[in-house]
Parts: sequence; structure tokens; C-alpha cells
Amino acid sequence: MASPAETAAMTRAIELATSVLGTTNPNPAVGAVVLDREGQPVASGATRPAGEAHAEIVALGEAGVRAAGGTLVVTLEPCRHVGRTGPCTDAIITAGIARVVYAVADPHTAAAGGSETLRAAGIDVEDGVLADTAAADLLPWLTAVRRQRPHVTWKYAATLDGRTAAADGTSRWITGEESRRDVHRLRALSDAVVVGIGTVLADDTHLTVRDWPTTRQPLRVVVDGKARTPVSAHILDGAARTLLAVGNDADPERVKPLRDTGAEVIELPRREGRIDLSALMATLFEREQHIVLLEGGATLAGSFVKQRLVDRVVGFHAPALLGSGPPVLGDAGIPTISAASRLTVTDVRALGADVRITADVDRGGR
Ligand SMILES: NC(=O)c1ccc[n+]([C@@H]2O[C@H](COP(=O)([O-])OP(=O)(O)OC[C@H]3O[C@@H](n4cnc5c(N)ncnc54)[C@H](OP(=O)(O)O)[C@@H]3O)[C@@H](O)[C@H]2O)c1
Repeated sequence: MASPAETAAMTRAIELATSVLGTTNPNPAVGAVVLDREGQPVASGATRPAGEAHAEIVALGEAGVRAAGGTLVVTLEPCRHVGRTGPCTDAIITAGIARVVYAVADPHTAAAGGSETLRAAGIDVEDGVLADTAAADLLPWLTAVRRQRPHVTWKYAATLDGRTAAADGTSRWITGEESRRDVHRLRALSDAVVVGIGTVLADDTHLTVRDWPTTRQPLRVVVDGKARTPVSAHILDGAARTLLAVGNDADPERVKPLRDTGAEVIELPRREGRIDLSALMATLFEREQHIVLLEGGATLAGSFVKQRLVDRVVGFHAPALLGSGPPVLGDAGIPTISAASRLTVTDVRALGADVRITADVDRGGR
């Protein structure tokens, strides 16, 4: 059973993990605290950007000899594999740590098993401490690793009656400034931001992070079966990398000028006449794009829901009514109420005059 000092250290480790969210991808954001043999906190650390030290290594480095006989408290089970960096289990054993307390087990096939390695080295190991709290921020990464495809958050902005535009097509701006800024935060946390060609043609969106501090821009992805993206589109402006997913039957005459802009164009198979989104997800996962933000429009979002590729929904609702105009979600292949995609609301927050609802798709349901 974790001591009060270990539980307090885990709370601190979770805060540290949260503070580096979005800067560690494709690695998970992890926090760690070292307690000396008297149980006093002597060092802490959080995951550095990919290729640099994991949280455990940062904390152990800061602790130095004070780690010997002490306890390492960490939000994720220490890894035992050689990835971009060496195994954390080796460093923990070498530092002379006597006890390891972690929150969430590592589902990664190569990295998991760290706790057995530590136990085999005579280290006392306790898992599951504040696991639910630690898992909240880790969930997208955990889902991606478990499902071997990116975690997808579908974000939309709508009126209270679920419209994204008026009957005449006007839609700027449905939600207020705070909601729009929050979208930049969501982008900053993501590896890739995905839209359909309908949205590019209608809005000429940039899809970059401009209104939130960030160390990197997510990959911009357009699902564009017939290669209709105009070469003059903002999304091809070079402000961030862009990937165009076109059909493998797209006209080469249209594809070539798109490639000439410097964008990457991948040709994907079709499924029921449209780009196979599972193939797109597999391609993104192979490239370690673990966290995806789907920004619409309604047609593409409907296909994602239909193929059960949406894990989380973040809806920004403005206190306005339109009564007619396009709905927020297109056909998702749900014919009857019993087949509805069910979600669990995890957060409701006022942003200026708007309300932001975050909900996770129930894994037991559709
Ligand atoms: N309020 C919001 O949150 C929000 C967000 C985004 C967009 N919007 C609005 O939504 C409108 C655009 O939405 P939209 O529904 O017309 O277009 P969309 O969903 O952005 O794009 C749909 C197009 O993507 C292509 N596509 C390729 N594979 C697909 C697949 N598997 N499933 C679905 N589509 C696939 C298809 O064109 P091809 O056949 O050519 O491949 C399809 O017509 C705009 O008015 C925009 O302002 C609102």
C-alpha cells in the first residue's frame, strides 16, 4: 500500500506529466518523483521531447546518489526496451532504487514488462496508485497503443440545435473567441489534424496552431479522394507539413501539381466508394501519429463514426439557434436508436458564452 508521501509524490508526478502534454509525442507524457530512503522528495522530472530522456531518467539524474535505497514514483510503468533511448529499468536498477510505485501499466508490447524486470532485480514494485487520475491525460496514448491505430478526437463547433452553418451557407463565426482559442490548444496536443476536402474548399482553412504556445505544428491531413485541393489553398502554404490522402484512382494530372507544392500525397484504396479511413489510420499510426484531431466536416466525421474510429468528441456549443442549415454530423450509418453511438461525458465547461462538452465513446457500445 502506498504511503501518504508516495501518494503525494504521485500527485506531483501527474502534475509534471500534464505540464509536458503535447511536447513529448510520439512518447507519452510521464512525470516522476524520487523519494530518498527517508521518504523525502529529492528530485523530479518529466518526459523530454522524443529522443531525449524519459521522466525516470531526468528524475534519477537530478537525484544522483540520493536515489540509492529510495523510491521512484512514476505515472507510467518504466519501460524495459531500447527505443530512441535505453531502458529505464536498467537506470533504476543501477541507481540502487529500492522501491518503484507507478500508476498505469504500459500496454506497449515492446516496452511492457518493466515491473517484472524490476522485481527480478529485487526491487519492491507497487502499481495502480492514483491510476485513474494518471490515466486521464495518458488515455489517448494508451488507446492508440492498445488499438494499434491513432486515438481520434472529433471536434466540432455548433449552435445549441446542432447546426454548423445557416441555410444560406454562412457560418463565420458560430462560437466565440475563447472556444476558437481552445481549438488551437487541441491542435497543439495532436500529432495530426484531419479534414475532408469539403472543408478545405468551403473554408480554405490553415489548420495550424497560431493561438496557443507550441513547439511543433501537427501534420495537416486532407482526405481528398479526387485530388481536388487547389494548389493555392492555405493548407499547402508550407507553414506546416501537409499530407493529402487521395484515391488510388485519382487523376495523375491533378496529383502531380499537388506533389510539386511540397505536400506529401499518398494514394489509398477506396471502401464503399470513398477513401478507406482504416487504411489512412494505419498509415498515420505507422508514422507514429498517435493523436489525431478530426476537424470535420460533417460528411467525413459521419464516416469516422460509422467506421468506429472516433474515440472522443469535443463539442463547442454556442448559445444560438438556426433551425435549418447543415447538421454537425452527417450519415453515420446508424438506422435506429438502439444502434446510437453512446458516450460518457467527462467534462463540461463554460468558455466565454459557449459551452464545451468532452465525451468519450463507450467501448462497450457501437
Ligand atoms: N462547425 C464545424 O465544426 C465545422 C468543421 C469543419 C467543417 N465545417 C463546415 O462543413 C462544411 C464542409 O463539410 P462537408 O461535409 O461538406 O465536407 P467534408 O466532410 O469536409 O469533406 C467531405 C468530402 O471528403 C471526401 N472524402 C473522401 N473519403 C471520404 C470518406 N471516407 N468519408 C467521407 N468523405 C470522404 C469526399 O470528397 P471526394 O469524393 O472528392 O473524395 C467528401 O465529399 C463546410 O461548410 C465547413 O464550413 C464545419
